[in-house]
Amino acid sequence: MSDKRKVVIDCDPGIDDCFALMLCIRHLDVVGIVAVGGNTGLQYTERNARYMTELTGRPDIPVYAGYDMPMLNKLVRATEVHGSGGLGTVVIEEPKKQLEKQHGVDYLIDTFMNHDDISLITLGPLTNVAQAILKEPELKKRIPEILCMGGSAFVGNTTPTAEFNIYVDPEAAKIVFESGIPIRMVGLNVTRQNRMTPDDVEILKKMGNPVADFAAQILSFTAGMNGRTGLCDACAVSWLVDPDIITKSAMVHVDVETKGEFTRGMTVCDWREYMGKDPKEDIAHEKQFVQWNPTPNVEVALEFNEERFRQVLFDTIESYGRQ
Ligand code: BDR
Ligand code: CA
Repeated sequence: MSDKRKVVIDCDPGIDDCFALMLCIRHLDVVGIVAVGGNTGLQYTERNARYMTELTGRPDIPVYAGYDMPMLNKLVRATEVHGSGGLGTVVIEEPKKQLEKQHGVDYLIDTFMNHDDISLITLGPLTNVAQAILKEPELKKRIPEILCMGGSAFVGNTTPTAEFNIYVDPEAAKIVFESGIPIRMVGLNVTRQNRMTPDDVEILKKMGNPVADFAAQILSFTAGMNGRTGLCDACAVSWLVDPDIITKSAMVHVDVETKGEFTRGMTVCDWREYMGKDPKEDIAHEKQFVQWNPTPNVEVALEFNEERFRQVLFDTIESYGRQ
């Protein structure tokens, strides 16, 4: 029996999702992968997830397809960042590995209703998870934790205030963030601290194994665009892979904005207790004015050891040459 942490990954691969899968498959016990439409359409995200299980030598990991479209929102994709097929300009053959027949949402329900020891990682829009909660409300008590790449403590990317995964399906994110399930959020405030450049493509090329070759090809697409990129989803999963990579976090209340003219899809973090130079400084002063004082519901990552992240990422990709 493996003593690795068991996880189910809901994702929309996507270039940085592929890097996250490389880390998770090596370091965690990946019980299943569910694809969601996001960066590109579901037909590509589920195919790319199947491809990654083959590439990493783990075609035994089941892959399910969930929802392609957000609950209410108009469709938003990120094909300009990830390419129309989700892998930059890399063209892959249809994997031999088959997609599971069960719908991804039913898989999530069955898995979490019948197991207590599996964490849920989300690297895409939260559509599948929200639909699963609506279909089986007991899930709110059954999912022990969600590690979520999404949102931001401060800054957006798709809009000035909203991060892509939340912006694509704000209603779904609201359902999940209000569910009471313990959430750890790794948002753009952390993942923007990661800088991958064309020099990193060269490092990967020299490793000489199929996973590294693929990593170099997909990274060259995004890193080449502006001379640098951040692997958001890989940064997020690193919190489970090596807990020392996230060096500071705080429990705060986070709401998802679904109505604002300029703020739809924003993760509104309640930093009122953290007004001073250090967390909690000035708290007594701030409290005087607080009329509405919601309970913290999310552990928000704040600081990140980039050097350590890069080390773990490169070591992991290199290790695929020794499998
Ligand atoms: C998130 O959006 C997607 O484009 C990435 O895969 C990542 O999950 C970053 O905002
Ligand atoms: Ca993603």
